[in-house]
Amino acid sequence: MSDQVKMTPLNYAPDRAAAKNPLKIMDLSLRDGHQSLFATRGRTEDMIPVAEMMDEVGFWAIETWGGATFDTMHRFLNEDPWERLRTLKRYIKKTPFSMLLRAQNLVGYRNYADDLAYAFVDRAAENGMDVFRTFDALNDYRNFETVVKQIKKSGKHFQGCICYTLTEPRLGGEVYNLDYYTDRAKSLESMGADSICVKDMAGLMAPYDAYPLIKALKKAVSVPIHLHSHFTSGMSPMTHLKAIEAGVDIIDTCMTPYAYRTSHAAVEPLVMTLLGTNRDTGFDIKKLAAINEIFEKEILPKYKHLLDDSKVSIIDINVLLHQTPGGMLSNLVNQLREMDALDKIDEVYKELPKVRKDLGQIPLVTPTSQIVGVQTVNNVLHDTPDERYKMITGQVKDLCYGLYGKTAVPINAELQKKALKGYPRGEEPITCRPAEVLEPELDKAKAEIGDLAVDMDDLILYAQFPVTGRKFLEWKYGKAEPPASVKPITMEEVKKKDEIIKKAKAGLLVEAKADAPEKSENIRSFNVFVDNEYFSVEVDPTGEMQAFSAPVQQTRPVQAAAPARKAPVAAPAAAAPPVPEAVGDGTLMLAPMPGMIVSFAKKSGDTVKKGDTVVVLEAMKMENSLTAPCDGTVQGIKFASGDTVAKGAVLCAIV
Ligand code: CO
Repeated sequence: MSDQVKMTPLNYAPDRAAAKNPLKIMDLSLRDGHQSLFATRGRTEDMIPVAEMMDEVGFWAIETWGGATFDTMHRFLNEDPWERLRTLKRYIKKTPFSMLLRAQNLVGYRNYADDLAYAFVDRAAENGMDVFRTFDALNDYRNFETVVKQIKKSGKHFQGCICYTLTEPRLGGEVYNLDYYTDRAKSLESMGADSICVKDMAGLMAPYDAYPLIKALKKAVSVPIHLHSHFTSGMSPMTHLKAIEAGVDIIDTCMTPYAYRTSHAAVEPLVMTLLGTNRDTGFDIKKLAAINEIFEKEILPKYKHLLDDSKVSIIDINVLLHQTPGGMLSNLVNQLREMDALDKIDEVYKELPKVRKDLGQIPLVTPTSQIVGVQTVNNVLHDTPDERYKMITGQVKDLCYGLYGKTAVPINAELQKKALKGYPRGEEPITCRPAEVLEPELDKAKAEIGDLAVDMDDLILYAQFPVTGRKFLEWKYGKAEPPASVKPITMEEVKKKDEIIKKAKAGLLVEAKADAPEKSENIRSFNVFVDNEYFSVEVDPTGEMQAFSAPVQQTRPVQAAAPARKAPVAAPAAAAPPVPEAVGDGTLMLAPMPGMIVSFAKKSGDTVKKGDTVVVLEAMKMENSLTAPCDGTVQGIKFASGDTVAKGAVLCAIV
């Protein structure tokens, strides 16, 4: 009876004895939390202030990576996703890291070839990933085969996901019933899953479905069962409780500022709910409160503007009405609006289950939610009484060909035939594992990107994101100046903006004075809405603020070439790369900031090309690759890994 919750609290003391069967918790604030609420814009520098404290809570794991973070970081934040792993690992030493892996889709949006999949998992493990939470949008585990081989080879934890979906308002019906889920769980266990996660990405799971489901899974398999249930519909805190009563082992939550809406329930109410019972988490709620205070005061003000506050309700009842995940619904609405057809939304709601059924009752999760959604809108706008599926999208054709995997039930044969007419790979659908038909792609990617990809991590990034990846590598190695839009917002800027809003509300905004200073190139513009009025406000950092923001700029993953000797010492970090200047018989590489030598990428006597990484310097807790300012040979290396250096210290010479 160890899975029954004893409802009478036994002990409240902070140093209370450990519960017999404590509920384990994974924190999602640093990945799914900001992905769900703040468009995945969380920056590494805003995770560091709480990292050590979070390590002390006792989480089963902390989700730090994967999902959309890899894409967003290099594209919008000018951050190297690999470096986030290494950086956070220096602060979070005890608690394992978890990532969301889209199986053969890795952290991108299509099935990649096996060589890339092996390389990605290998490098993620090497860079510090511990738990690989793996899912496939079709629950087709042939798409797991390659990544699982490498997860096991790397000696890491393979968590297999079952995407939770429904065709009826509640669990059951012909496709997604208890048998389906227990069958999927057994299949994962036989693949070697170390734990199994039920991934309820749309918050569809009702509490009284969670109970029999978790009971059935606990009976069917022996590995721990983990529940990931988004709050979106409002049911998840109740669902959590029933799952706990049914004996679930691990539950996902967020710290309060990252909780609720389309994210997850908060950890603190759950800790209090279970306090003193035999499922007591053992967490110290005061420690959680201290972390929240830092998030609230020092970090979230920088992200508040990203929160979708267009609605007062924090619950999306469309999930309850149509089982449409929140993100999918807003995509549909945007698509209809663009086509000036917003009045067709009710037809879309009616058409959507039909399209989904024709396409094999696939779960609705990235990328299948988009595939079904876009095709539905196409049908509503273009179909005629005599012809269905007049305009079939490329992805629906790929799905019909079998490129995403096997659907839960067969695709409508008539639709499949129509979709594959003239399909370039062939008109006969494949039945094998999709990646079998994909050519290796790493060598091709290397040939395209050349030396701009310095190591395998760069190459993997480029292979998944050729366009934005190339642009990022150009910023990383100082070949192009990153735009202002990728720079972090500082607390000073937030305070100034808030002051302006306060003044505007009080009617105190005045015309610029005649002696107003000239605008600098550092100016940032903000859209400010006050009641029904709109202001475009430009905020120019003053000298005092630059002093504040300079360290932040230095935390950008990689600087341009290290300044050569006699380069102006006080040059701002964002200035153009200084021209290398020969001194005596070589060009000296100086530390552009105080920090610690992580490693020398080259040794004395190595020849280097301009732009090659020579030294990796940790400063402001971030790694900076310092690149050769000119071609030559490395000489006179002065320091070793772990040495602390002052700003301007001579690191070596390029002769
Ligand atoms: Co999620």
